[in-house]
Amino acid sequence: MSIFCVGQAAYDITARVDEDIIPDQKYRLTTHTECPGAPALNGACVCGKWGAPSYLVARIGEDAYGAMIKEQVRGCGVNLDYLLDAPGVSTSFSFIVANGKTGTRTIFNFPSQPVEASVRFPEEVPDVILCDGHEPEATIAFAEKFPQAAVVVDAGTCRESTMQAARVSDYIVSSRAFAEQYTGKPLPKDDEGITETLHALEEINPGCKVAVTLGSEGLVYLEGGKLVRMPAFPADTIDSTGAGDIFHGAFAYGLSRGLSFADCLTVGSMTASISTTKMGSQRSIPELDEVLDALEKHGCPIAGLR
Ligand SMILES: Nc1ncnc2c1ncn2[C@@H]1O[C@H](COP(=O)(O)OP(=O)(O)OP(=O)(O)O)[C@@H](O)[C@H]1O
Ligand SMILES: [Mg+2]
Repeated sequence: MSIFCVGQAAYDITARVDEDIIPDQKYRLTTHTECPGAPALNGACVCGKWGAPSYLVARIGEDAYGAMIKEQVRGCGVNLDYLLDAPGVSTSFSFIVANGKTGTRTIFNFPSQPVEASVRFPEEVPDVILCDGHEPEATIAFAEKFPQAAVVVDAGTCRESTMQAARVSDYIVSSRAFAEQYTGKPLPKDDEGITETLHALEEINPGCKVAVTLGSEGLVYLEGGKLVRMPAFPADTIDSTGAGDIFHGAFAYGLSRGLSFADCLTVGSMTASISTTKMGSQRSIPELDEVLDALEKHGCPIAGLR
């Protein structure tokens, strides 16, 4: 039941500023939140926290941020035996401004150096490979080595690296930004236009299943060729950082437990909704029981996960 999460790891420093930032002003802040972050890392932490054998495949430097990431991610039950071997790199980190009033966040990310990194493979075939498009070579290597594994891409931004990962993915679960950048136009509002967009995404890897997440507006996907709109579960959002990452981690966990596509999306959706009520990304991952209880309360119980 193993889940390999291939992509980015970063250290997030988040400040809450509940107003629009105006250039040339000084903001005096009293608190901030620090924790590991980035899509693959957050996805791995969801799966680890929920008790699945979860592995992170990312580049992490031998520096202070790297050491803090390793300690906290291990604390979530994530195995780091298959980290990428990228000698000399510094760990990626982000400064984030979260606006608790609007539920929006602005991220300033300093990536790791893109030096060539070498991959190590496990002996056993992973059930799920969750990738975020940040390590396309490693993603392709994993997908080719383990054709039996279900590959999921968290397609955030439509860059060539994300496209490379999407082309080998069985599940393309994209953000609105990715869908709009890919089609070159705003996501249509009408059923026909959205269906057309989803079909366009399916062509990236024919036979794959696709969904597009729309933040607090929920998500859309196709079931038997028909459009389904899944509203978001309402939340008192204070910080949406990592909601998408956590969504994908829960989605991958659901796949590893044999859930249907629709149930994986439902579990992802509730997990992400709850995560927005707390500051920080990795720190805001709820327990599995909390998610399952909330789903029951909302009248959409998911059987077999306890
Ligand atoms: N404010 C919110 N309230 C309730 N649910 C939310 C909220 N924001 C996100 N979600 C849930 O999380 C899912 C993914 O969020 P979103 O579409 O924002 O991901 P994203 O664009 O990949 O963002 P990121 O990865 O930066 O967090 C949504 O489909 C929805 O189910
Ligand atoms: Mg995302």
